[in-house]
Amino acid sequence: LLFPVILAGGKGERFWPLSRKDRPKQFLSLDGSSRSLLQATADRLIELGRGWDSLWVITSSQIAEGVRQQLPDLPVENLLIESEGRDTAAAVAWTSLEIKQRYGEDAVIGFFPADHWIADQEAFAHTLNAATQLATSTAAIVTLGIKPTFPSTGYGYIEQGEKIGSFNELPTYHVNRFTEKPDRETAETFLSTGRFSWNSGMFVFRAGVVLKELHTHAPEIIEPLEQHGPDIYPQLPKKSIDYALMEKTTLAYVLPVDFGWDDLGDWNAIERLLKTEDTPNVELATHVGLDTQGAIIYASNPEDVVVTIGLEDVVIVRDRNVTLVVKKERTQEIKQILKILQSDS
Ligand code: GDD
Ligand code: MG
Repeated sequence: LLFPVILAGGKGERFWPLSRKDRPKQFLSLDGSSRSLLQATADRLIELGRGWDSLWVITSSQIAEGVRQQLPDLPVENLLIESEGRDTAAAVAWTSLEIKQRYGEDAVIGFFPADHWIADQEAFAHTLNAATQLATSTAAIVTLGIKPTFPSTGYGYIEQGEKIGSFNELPTYHVNRFTEKPDRETAETFLSTGRFSWNSGMFVFRAGVVLKELHTHAPEIIEPLEQHGPDIYPQLPKKSIDYALMEKTTLAYVLPVDFGWDDLGDWNAIERLLKTEDTPNVELATHVGLDTQGAIIYASNPEDVVVTIGLEDVVIVRDRNVTLVVKKERTQEIKQILKILQSDS
């Protein structure tokens, strides 16, 4: 039995101007479907079989109301609201404490990002079954490893160690080393060995196991939370679970993932999802183009017409009062622009 938790407190800034303060990425549907990324994540986890009562969500106070509106069936007592986001280590620590309190330290918890695309639900369920079996029978921090396709610097890298057996017919390995967001050169070296996978950002473990590991590796987060409860939140260090725990624990295991995955990190993800061979551009807008290719074009208002001449490999986004034009290879820098624009992001 698995208690799935959705980590839904991030901002998704690299999808600005579609993502805004009051409308973060997880509230959007990026592939034209009627369900937002958050709703699609919840649907996927509900389908694992235990219904809304088993699902938890942790988010920040700024967007909690939006989360309630998007997930009206989520029991109120399963929604944890952070007074202020302190990144994922604090979120994992607080949720694990709450679930342990309600269901005991052997409760198996799975953490899931709110903004991923997954192609094959059946394979997803099969993998999570395996992860749950592994976490139930071993003191394991279970990770799901994605086969890497390029030396990304935006992911965690998992080095596969010794094979420990199979769960639900999936080969299972000990993790030798976990490296969060390496630089380009390191990522290239990792890729060339063939032993590394990308961290999917999904984790499965027993409440008691993760809390014990947090005590060992991140006492600065778990101790104040245990002593003072969530009131201490604004004083907790801002650290992701990848740096706070995954790079340090020796209890990590990895299951290979084969369900079709994308983390929808920035506008280029739209192209990976929607590009077909016989169209030169990805168009989520009324677009008239001359000599334009490799463009990703989005307009919130279908009546707006985007006209381009002689452009290549650009992203054009029109939303409300903002028009963004950026080279595809520089979409990561939207985060920097937002610092300059802070008043209206
Ligand atoms: N509740 C809460 N509070 N959720 C948060 C917070 C917070 O303060 N910060 C981020 N989240 C949520 C985000 O909304 C997202 O769903 C998830 O936690 C992961 O955060 P990201 O900020 O998207 O992490 P990342 O993409 O840089 O890196 C992680 O995911 C990669 C795969 O997509 C890492 O785990 C990497 O190792 C991994 O490769
Ligand atoms: Mg992410």
